[in-house]
Amino acid sequence: MPDFRLAVAPMVDRTDRHFRFLVRQVSLRVRLYTEMTVDQAVLRGNRERLLAFRPEERPLALQLAGKDPETLAQAAQVAEAWGYDEVNLNLGCPSQKAQEGGYGACLLLDLPRVKEILRAMQEAVRVPVTVKMRLGLEGKETYPDLARAVEAMAEAGVSVFIVHARSALLALSTRANREVPPLRHEWVHRLKRDFPHLTFVTNGGIRSLEEALLHLRRVDGVMMGRAVYEDPFVLEEADQRVYGLPHRASRLEVARRMRAYLEEELLRGTPPWAVLRHMLHLFRGRPRGRLWRRLLSEGRTLGALDRALRLMEEEVGQEGEGEKPGPRGEPEAALGLTREGV
Ligand SMILES: Cc1cc2nc3c(=O)[nH]c(=O)nc-3n(C[C@H](O)[C@H](O)[C@H](O)COP(=O)(O)O)c2cc1C
Repeated sequence: MPDFRLAVAPMVDRTDRHFRFLVRQVSLRVRLYTEMTVDQAVLRGNRERLLAFRPEERPLALQLAGKDPETLAQAAQVAEAWGYDEVNLNLGCPSQKAQEGGYGACLLLDLPRVKEILRAMQEAVRVPVTVKMRLGLEGKETYPDLARAVEAMAEAGVSVFIVHARSALLALSTRANREVPPLRHEWVHRLKRDFPHLTFVTNGGIRSLEEALLHLRRVDGVMMGRAVYEDPFVLEEADQRVYGLPHRASRLEVARRMRAYLEEELLRGTPPWAVLRHMLHLFRGRPRGRLWRRLLSEGRTLGALDRALRLMEEEVGQEGEGEKPGPRGEPEAALGLTREGV
């Protein structure tokens, strides 16, 4: 069974291959997801642009959206052929566009179709087919409704459920839908108690690794989105504290690796801003962090990155002095977590 303990959420316009590569420098193991990709785009679009990734990004899942079992199954096959480790079905997007297209959260109203889709996708591929869903729709859901939905999908063979632990309110904007409906992580914890043989990953509003570790006492996994985008270094201790690996990079090391990456990408014709825009928050909350951000966003070139890097090197010292890890926060033991327990 793949490791679902920690994941970075699929985010349109955020989790493209460049941002994923950056996150991978911070954590060697965290599970990564692409942006939501419509099945028709996979089947008819520019696959190199939509699907290409570097092997370092793995473990990596492609998140698909769609409503038709056949085309979703075909798209899943393409994903598998491209080397993705998982195909995830979006059952949580509440946007107007998704509603018009009949995919995303509104599919939760049609569980027989969802089952048909999931069966078709699983027949088409060997990699795990997982779902990312909301608790329900319009705030009318009850825990028994949620449990029934999970049961139905489990009947169709799904065993991994990523749950954004709030309802989807279809009249609200997509953005408001990530803030307004109340979070109910306790429902996901309860799902794990009621269906211990299934894998549950909880998602929504989790801001720190400490919080993630607390959830991991009750569920199989935690998915974090905005907190990671806003400061990729929330994952700074993930490899040590979740996976028991010695790896831990400094911000400056990650920035230098991203410089080398940008240089390679430029040779492939990638515009510098496509990479640099994801690096803006790399020194968030650190001395000169705002200056770093300004230099990159105003310069938008490799040269601007070099200037910003020199500045940060001066700040922290050539050897990375001052970048040494600060206090480690609460040790695992104090949280009642052993590695096995995590
Ligand atoms: C900019 C942005 C884009 C998103 N795009 C997707 C997406 O493509 N697919 C998806 O399932 N969820 C998407 N989401 C929702 C996130 O995956 C996640 O469920 C949500 O942000 C709650 O987690 P968080 O509080 O840790 O950010 C998006 C969220 C944001 C902020």
